[in-house]
Amino acid sequence: MDSSVVEKAKKKETPARLDLVVFGASGYTGKHVVQELARICRSYPGFTWAVAGRNRERLEMVLRDAAKKSGSDLSSVRIIIADVDDEASLMSMCQQAKLVLNCCGPFVKFGQPVVETSIRCGAHYVDVSGEKLFLEILQQKYDQMAREAGVAVVTTCGLSSVPADLGVIYLQNNFGGTLNSVESYLIMHFPQKLLAERTKGVVRYSSWESMINRCLVHKRLNRWCLPFPGTDAAVVDITQRHLLSAEQKRPAQYKAYITFPSICTAFGVVLAGALLFMFSKIPCLRKLLLNYPRICSFGIVTYDHPEDGVMDDMCFQYEMFGEGWVTGDDVEQTPPSKKVVGRVSIQTIRNNNCFSGELKTTQKFLEKCIWQSIFFIAIISQIIGLPLATALRSE
Ligand SMILES: NC(=O)c1ccc[n+]([C@@H]2O[C@H](COP(=O)([O-])OP(=O)(O)OC[C@H]3O[C@@H](n4cnc5c(N)ncnc54)[C@H](OP(=O)(O)O)[C@@H]3O)[C@@H](O)[C@H]2O)c1
Repeated sequence: MDSSVVEKAKKKETPARLDLVVFGASGYTGKHVVQELARICRSYPGFTWAVAGRNRERLEMVLRDAAKKSGSDLSSVRIIIADVDDEASLMSMCQQAKLVLNCCGPFVKFGQPVVETSIRCGAHYVDVSGEKLFLEILQQKYDQMAREAGVAVVTTCGLSSVPADLGVIYLQNNFGGTLNSVESYLIMHFPQKLLAERTKGVVRYSSWESMINRCLVHKRLNRWCLPFPGTDAAVVDITQRHLLSAEQKRPAQYKAYITFPSICTAFGVVLAGALLFMFSKIPCLRKLLLNYPRICSFGIVTYDHPEDGVMDDMCFQYEMFGEGWVTGDDVEQTPPSKKVVGRVSIQTIRNNNCFSGELKTTQKFLEKCIWQSIFFIAIISQIIGLPLATALRSE
């Protein structure tokens, strides 16, 4: 799009823009963002924000709920009706915002119109996507357009991939020399309550859909590790490349792994992942996975929001092993001579010690999920009698 369109759009903007508009505020992630905003904004009285989405009633309910939970008066928070499929409504929303925070996913399906309209309207853009393909689309299609419009577009600002990105920067800043590489190991803790409630649905359908759409082992930290297929490595790579061009800082290489308590669980994940990948490539099975998520996941995936509190005690920890050179060493001619270890923990304020105890619950949860999926997939293959290899070859 040429820059004159951007300029024209900017001129059409309303005079007083809101500081922030949360789009997709009625979703599971959006609801939590609104609750956090309600809590944080008490310390920033002049801060103006709105919730946006396609359903007024649901947005009102999210605001009522957040007001109750935070004890804040949210009567001045504006409600904006906007639908991804209605360009004019997106335009109107973006013209009212300095920054659009997009929680409406899957992003490969719904994200592009929101990014494009934000740029056209001169509103900065942030989202919580965790989709690699979307990250690539944004870089290829919107980088130039955003630069010309003077708009910041920041994607994957959720659990994927803020902790990894900040963790590497932290190691870099505190290394005391030149950091060359980081190996990161993600440890997850699933609370007992999550295990108990799993068949009532604890994974949102949009995350399941993202996984279906995109879809090798060693031991460290006394756990079994697999390469982590998320967006972390790509995001860290972008930041490191930016630091190289902006500050001439030597980029650190980044490798991400996810860890499991036992080798059986790790192999189970590989097997379930491989089967899920194959099934997602076969049209009729892909339809089955997308149309009957609850049955296919033994109740884990849900269209509803998981019950309040079920996710509260979930924790994530990144153990980061950095390697590099002490100040003064010749980074071109000598091998790395210094090692550091960093840790990024993400946990609720209430439960700030979840990694001190046993992780048996996590193991049990993962094992049940994995073996149930494999069992399901095996049965389906038998029933349908599909010649998998033939179907895959024809794909
Ligand atoms: N990076 C991370 O770590 C991370 C963490 C959590 C989630 N996510 C991602 O965030 C996304 C949202 O997850 P979620 O669990 O919050 O999903 P969700 O509960 O299904 O929420 C989706 C939101 O998008 C809205 N929406 C859907 N179609 C729309 C349309 N045509 N126009 C306007 N709004 C529309 C929904 O509005 P209605 O209420 O009207 O249906 C809802 O507000 C997913 O892609 C997920 O993968 C990433």
